[in-house]
Amino acid sequence: MTGRNQTVISEFLLLGLPIESEQQNLFYALFLAMYLTTVLGNLLIIVLIRLDSHLHTPMYLFLSNLSFSDLCFSSVTMPKLLQNMQSQFSSILYAGCLTQMYFFLFFGDLEIFLLVAMAYDRYVAICFPLRYSTIMSPELCLSLVVLSWVLSMFHALLHTLLTARLCFCTDNVIPHFFCDMSALLKLSCSDTRVNELVIFFIGGIIVVTPFLLIILSYAQIVFSILKFPSGGSIWKAFSTCGSHLSVVSLFYGTIIGLYLCPSANNSLVKEITMAMMYTVVTPMLNPFIYSLRNKDMKGALGRVFCKKKILFSL
Ligand SMILES: *[C@@H]1O[C@H](CO)[C@@H](O)[C@H](O)[C@H]1NC(C)=O
Repeated sequence: MTGRNQTVISEFLLLGLPIESEQQNLFYALFLAMYLTTVLGNLLIIVLIRLDSHLHTPMYLFLSNLSFSDLCFSSVTMPKLLQNMQSQFSSILYAGCLTQMYFFLFFGDLEIFLLVAMAYDRYVAICFPLRYSTIMSPELCLSLVVLSWVLSMFHALLHTLLTARLCFCTDNVIPHFFCDMSALLKLSCSDTRVNELVIFFIGGIIVVTPFLLIILSYAQIVFSILKFPSGGSIWKAFSTCGSHLSVVSLFYGTIIGLYLCPSANNSLVKEITMAMMYTVVTPMLNPFIYSLRNKDMKGALGRVFCKKKILFSL
């Protein structure tokens, strides 16, 4: 490998989305609208939860963390995608590419761990309602959040360092709209077996364990509801858990569809569409899934804005 003549690649070209040039403007407007919706929706949730003291419960603090993570997750890829759609040459510096990959992995992992924390929170609330406030103490919530940050940081750093040691020869065209790790591995001209092993084992653990924990929590919830059925509680439990489960299945459905389905029939277009699903669509839908049908959030909206009105009229 050392004997070979190598050009050091200082930047990559992002091919972007497989869209016809006549439709470029339409999709640009669509993605811009989706990105703005994501930013505003998630910001609204964070601000509401911060301002309204009724919502300072573990469930909403986790939700606010999830919104923050959604906001950052789509900000890692969307602004660059929008910029690239407007320019002919969509290059990204080598360091920028690795940075994007790091934050993409970081916020993706953070999202997964927060979903586990939220599932655990619902499990305790429904299966041990009397001991809920002692179990889900502010210390435990903070520890869960800090643990999620630390685990995500290490996992993202591991993959980024492993990718940073790869050599890239002449091919620097990434057929994707962001610096996707698997796309980078395919471009590299060094031996990527170690990277693939680490992705398979550590990545598998990071994705599958949380998934099992989430399934386990909700299975326990369903089991305990069926054991002591009472009209009101069933409805309430299913309406909160239903919204959590739809977020989980949306996020995991696309990830599992992308990475666990046989890669032979994964065409590029399918891969990019799936990536669009969990980088753009999920972060945009989360605020709506959690808040639209939620009485507490609507109440908070009313309280926060009414307070403002009173303040202004004084
Ligand atoms: C995240 O959760 C922690 C612990 O519950 C909380 O103290 C913090 O304010 C939350 N962060 C955001 C941005 O909501």
